[in-house]
Amino acid sequence: MTADARPRYAHLTGWGRYAPAGVLTNADLARMVDTSDEWIVSRTGIRERRVAAAHETTASMAAVAAKRAIAVAGIQADDIDLILLATLTPDYWMPATAALVKEAIGNTRAVAMDVSAACSGFVYGYSMAQAYITSGMARHVLVIGAELLTRFLDYTDRNTCILFGDGAGAVVLSASDEAGGGLGIELTTEPQGAYMIWLPSGGSKSPPSTATIARGEHYIRMEGRETYRFATRTLASTALAAIEHAGWQPSDISLIIPHQANVRIIEAVARGLGMSMDRMFVNVDRYGNTSAASIPIALAEAANSGRIAVGDRIVIVAFGAGFTSGAVAIEWTADPARGALGEGISPDSVHIRPPVDWDSVDPIPEALAEILARPGPVPLDLSDVVPGEPEPAAHPALR
Ligand code: ACO
Repeated sequence: MTADARPRYAHLTGWGRYAPAGVLTNADLARMVDTSDEWIVSRTGIRERRVAAAHETTASMAAVAAKRAIAVAGIQADDIDLILLATLTPDYWMPATAALVKEAIGNTRAVAMDVSAACSGFVYGYSMAQAYITSGMARHVLVIGAELLTRFLDYTDRNTCILFGDGAGAVVLSASDEAGGGLGIELTTEPQGAYMIWLPSGGSKSPPSTATIARGEHYIRMEGRETYRFATRTLASTALAAIEHAGWQPSDISLIIPHQANVRIIEAVARGLGMSMDRMFVNVDRYGNTSAASIPIALAEAANSGRIAVGDRIVIVAFGAGFTSGAVAIEWTADPARGALGEGISPDSVHIRPPVDWDSVDPIPEALAEILARPGPVPLDLSDVVPGEPEPAAHPALR
């Protein structure tokens, strides 16, 4: 990758998403832990989430979303100069999952790396792509958010196992001298939140051992209430800062695509920005929290379901472990009808090369084995993308 002429803008030219066929419902979870559909829906807005099958990995889901985004952008895989893959659930500690995706999509030229910023990872990756393009270092950048969270959950912990799901989304950003694309970016990191959402073992501080596994330290842990407070305090102000950096007002924004963690948090963003819920994109009911994948999945669904038109001003905004937050104010320039070009790409067209001489283990958590054995696949109905109709907020921070 070498420096070139400096284009002034990075347009969003391609988008795609992939959701595995397996569905885990609230009723399924109520058979594992002491919870109920009513509790989960009223506190989070989540009705079901997707679960990757045994043959799927973060890389395989990412590669399907990536191929779809490349088709929508109308370029070849080898036109991509840089692949940024945001995830907290990589296939391996090394190599980067982005390197596996590069091979799977048939790219020979790109630099490939992962981005680690939890649920804000996709927005952080988007900002990096923008910087590479406007510095002249890259012309086409693939930014992916992909997660396989259901293999990192403790299915005896009702505080966490109800929240998360699997999936992937991707966008292509392309250099242009015409105004458009990401025009305002805001990123924040607040380290005092470091242990609010974390996965204790597996890293150099606590290498995996029979003892760490016996203590369940290989599962996600979370202080839900503190995380909720951070999200409701931060998301609207981060979005507002990005809107101001673009020189816009909240009234200029036709659609906010927030991180899909909890519909009550999304309501708080709407209130903070003085917007009605019909300008907030909501699909948390069908996917749960897919961390770094949540915004690119939502963005692809919003474009493909007629919620975005050429010339619209939209905002993507996320928060996550760290604590991190980030937002990008985007002027949409691509024809949304191009989304159909991506939907035609079959997941079967993607192959991740397996390791040599590796006796693979069954990756499916015991608690999910029966659910994944159910007949599928479940068809995705894009016409069902509707703004949420949340319960009135019960949390003190929202009253
Ligand atoms: N079913 C039934 N009861 C439950 C469940 C459940 N699944 N989970 C918790 N409870 C109980 C608690 O034990 C508690 O009981 P107690 O009062 O007897 O102690 C009660 O419900 C209330 O618990 P709260 O934690 O106060 O519930 P709250 O209304 O805050 O909702 C929730 C919990 C949904 C987790 C909320 O705090 C939240 O959404 N937090 C943000 C989480 C989030 O977005 N995380 C992702 C971050 S992004 C990333 O980077 C990965």
